[in-house]
Amino acid sequence: MVTYKQIQSSNSLLTSSTIPRVSLFAGGTSGIGKYTLRALVSASVGHDPIRVYLVGRESSRPATEEFISSLRLINPNAEIVFLPGEISLLSETKRVCSVVKSREQSLDLLFLSAGFAPFGNARTETAEGLEVAQSLEYYSRVLFVELLLPLLSRAGGRVVSVLGGGLERPGSIPDVDDLDLKGSGGKGFMGYKAQTQYVAMNTLGMEVLARENRAVTFLHSWPGIVSTGNVWRGVQDKNSALGWFIWLVVEPLLRLIGRSEQECGERYLFQCTSGYYGGSAEKTTAWNGKRGESTKGTDEQEGAGHGLFLVNYKCDCTPNEANMKALREKAQKKVWDHTMQVLGPYM
Ligand SMILES: NC(=O)c1ccc[n+]([C@@H]2O[C@H](COP(=O)([O-])OP(=O)(O)OC[C@H]3O[C@@H](n4cnc5c(N)ncnc54)[C@H](OP(=O)(O)O)[C@@H]3O)[C@@H](O)[C@H]2O)c1
Repeated sequence: MVTYKQIQSSNSLLTSSTIPRVSLFAGGTSGIGKYTLRALVSASVGHDPIRVYLVGRESSRPATEEFISSLRLINPNAEIVFLPGEISLLSETKRVCSVVKSREQSLDLLFLSAGFAPFGNARTETAEGLEVAQSLEYYSRVLFVELLLPLLSRAGGRVVSVLGGGLERPGSIPDVDDLDLKGSGGKGFMGYKAQTQYVAMNTLGMEVLARENRAVTFLHSWPGIVSTGNVWRGVQDKNSALGWFIWLVVEPLLRLIGRSEQECGERYLFQCTSGYYGGSAEKTTAWNGKRGESTKGTDEQEGAGHGLFLVNYKCDCTPNEANMKALREKAQKKVWDHTMQVLGPYM
């Protein structure tokens, strides 16, 4: 476990060269992305100005503008640019990326946290025919990376995908020929199982990207429990038995045992900036005062400091090797081929 003290101490060492100068947050309008962005802006006080692209839905604009005003009070020199976009649509993800590419040469940090667990068992599709949570938690995230790779590579940047790194199992993907869970016309869709599959697809996809793009550091991270209201997003009827159960039991429990906003934000800032998870010495904070001590990613071929890092809520790296080996053999090629087929029209 990386202790909160170690996290705070690492974050206090951030300098103008190790704070991400240009970042994009997709999912930073609430929850974990929002807490991380606040921690980033706080850490940037007294250093060179940073610029952050904050992507959000038009419907979230008023709340987000208020949030941005609060960030300006923390550091008036931090430039936060609100980019409206409905990123459950791949066409919108592409449009947002084009805007960033037209303005920036390089990108230090891509923080991906949009999504929710689709608790109900009814399949909800975007206008492009993808299940909404799958699009947010997998397809749109891979598309962001693919489209922004030139900028990320130029910067030696980092991608942090917040979902369930380390939780993947070979059975997480029951049917490699039905990756979009459309079987029986979507009638067999089960929210809990879907979320488990999206976690595994995230890891498999990000691992391919990490293998092919060694200049960029990739983290797939599991936040543990953070009471962000996320649990409500996949509930279609708040007045249902499930809704009452969440209101009376789950939410109070999450508030009780979940991590605080402050600690969550600091822990993710650490994940965005620490050399513990690889990256170049010039652009990351040293771990325990030393260089070259970063842990290993998932792919043994890559050696220490490279590949995809699966990070748990304690900020430890968990290669999850036995499960990953089986999952790779079973599903990686199928997942990647299918992903390229889905994303093809938008690349
Ligand atoms: N919180 C936890 O304890 C926990 C635990 C394990 C995994 N996770 C996963 O970690 C990720 C981040 O969690 P979080 O708690 O930070 O989430 P959150 O606060 O509920 O939401 C994060 C972002 O997702 C966006 N979003 C949600 N539904 C959307 C939709 N239909 N279309 C477009 N954007 C949508 C939100 O946009 P708006 O602001 O516009 O609504 C927000 O920016 C999620 O994928 C979640 O499933 C969370």
